[in-house]
Amino acid sequence: MSFYMPDRVECNGEEFKLFLSKQEIDKRLMELGEELDTDFEGKRPIFIGILNGSFIFLADLMRHVSIPAEVDFLKLSSYGDAKVSSGKVTERKELDADIEGRHIILVEDIIDTGLSMSYMINRIKDKKPASVTVVTLLHKYEATRYDVQIDYVGFRIPDLFVLGYGLDYAQEGRNLAQIYILDEEANKAKNEPEDHA
Ligand code: IMP
Ligand code: MG
Repeated sequence: MSFYMPDRVECNGEEFKLFLSKQEIDKRLMELGEELDTDFEGKRPIFIGILNGSFIFLADLMRHVSIPAEVDFLKLSSYGDAKVSSGKVTERKELDADIEGRHIILVEDIIDTGLSMSYMINRIKDKKPASVTVVTLLHKYEATRYDVQIDYVGFRIPDLFVLGYGLDYAQEGRNLAQIYILDEEANKAKNEPEDHA
């Protein structure tokens, strides 16, 4: 079985088109891995993946890193099943690792308004780590309203809904191997009433 990577995809009745190919993602992860290797040389960071969205990115990113590293997960939920952020963050799973005095690399799939990440950074800092570094695969920079620390960004993207590579739309689409973006024109054409004249 090969990776699931169509050119277009329909998810929950909406049309999405390919935005970042597997090759582009792989290339960027290689670069990020090299940067982390250099910047964390001699340290033993703990990668903390923010579930669910970051699980694929984290798994791939860690395999591009060759310094000794550990992993743990936190689970947050802010979106509900809609395409627009609910503005509320709920915590669903606590950390297992004792992170006091440790170097933490927080790994997120996407920073949109910045609410989830700013909440997360404060939660982590309360536990007195030696340092906190933020890595996000995607940054919707035009949508970011909270003042949030971001140290490494995979791709800066427009303020449109994206899907795949761990990112979902109402829990669907995480298994797509590439990243897709809402195809506004295709959705508009689909929703326009047919011309019977
Ligand atoms: P923020 O708190 O507004 O920055 O939202 C961050 C969270 O919302 C991310 O961790 C994602 O789970 C989710 N999210 C934001 N934008 C998208 C998107 O375009 N597609 C899928 N999930 C998204
Ligand atoms: Mg997320």
